[in-house]
Amino acid sequence: MALFSKKPAVRDEVDFSRLPRHIAIIMDGNGRWAKKRGLPRTAGHAAGAETFRTIATYCKDIGLDYLTVYAFSSENWKRPEEEVGTIMSLLKKYLLEAISRMERDKVKMEFFGDLSPLTPELRELCERTREISRHYEGCQVNVCLNYGGRDELVRAAKAFARDCAEGKGDPNHLTEEKFSGYLYSGGVPDPDLIIRTSGELRLSNFLLWQAAYSEFYITDVLWPDFSKEELHRAIASYQSRERRFGGV
Ligand code: FPP
Repeated sequence: MALFSKKPAVRDEVDFSRLPRHIAIIMDGNGRWAKKRGLPRTAGHAAGAETFRTIATYCKDIGLDYLTVYAFSSENWKRPEEEVGTIMSLLKKYLLEAISRMERDKVKMEFFGDLSPLTPELRELCERTREISRHYEGCQVNVCLNYGGRDELVRAAKAFARDCAEGKGDPNHLTEEKFSGYLYSGGVPDPDLIIRTSGELRLSNFLLWQAAYSEFYITDVLWPDFSKEELHRAIASYQSRERRFGGV
């Protein structure tokens, strides 16, 4: 019997040559993380933004093609003004940093959601990051901002109807693939793996169309505590599954 039985690191269970192409994350549990520590909820979001930074950088480093995160839902405006303000300033800080590192990191940034209610400053920053990184070919990070899955579908339906009215579309020739092109995520493959932290078992209006065949990984870990190790666990779990897409 071995005197020391060292548990292998989860990293060893990940096949990095067979990564999912696209991982999407519902970054939940910032508030509970703060409450457990007797801190204001805003401190949870600040810690969550750090975790996002670490995980996004790591996803780039391991060669993931797409990472999509749910940063602010169209329902999150209902939160106290101070909390909304904190999330927006964390985003601003992140975007400013991202801009300063873009030439080095070559991370492509996109935004899914209706950016029109954001402040002109934040909108301009989103536009600038999108524009600078438009031609990059490394990891693409999609930040869902003022995003709602149902809203995305209604917008897509309206845009398609407008095209039909202008003679640029034909309902008889609409396919799933063509309709996907009207979504914020047009051109981005559907997420292979959706991770939700903090143990909640719901989709919360996230990527409703795109999640049709995604694999789910739910962890009790609160988002600020989510680590590379936990990401390895999620990927290893994904890689152990057999995806059938409705077949046998
Ligand atoms: C959910 O936790 C988290 C959010 C609604 C905001 C997510 C925002 C960040 C991680 C920071 C900013 C993001 C970027 C991309 C820099 P919750 O507050 O609902 O947690 P709870 O369910 O425990 O209350």
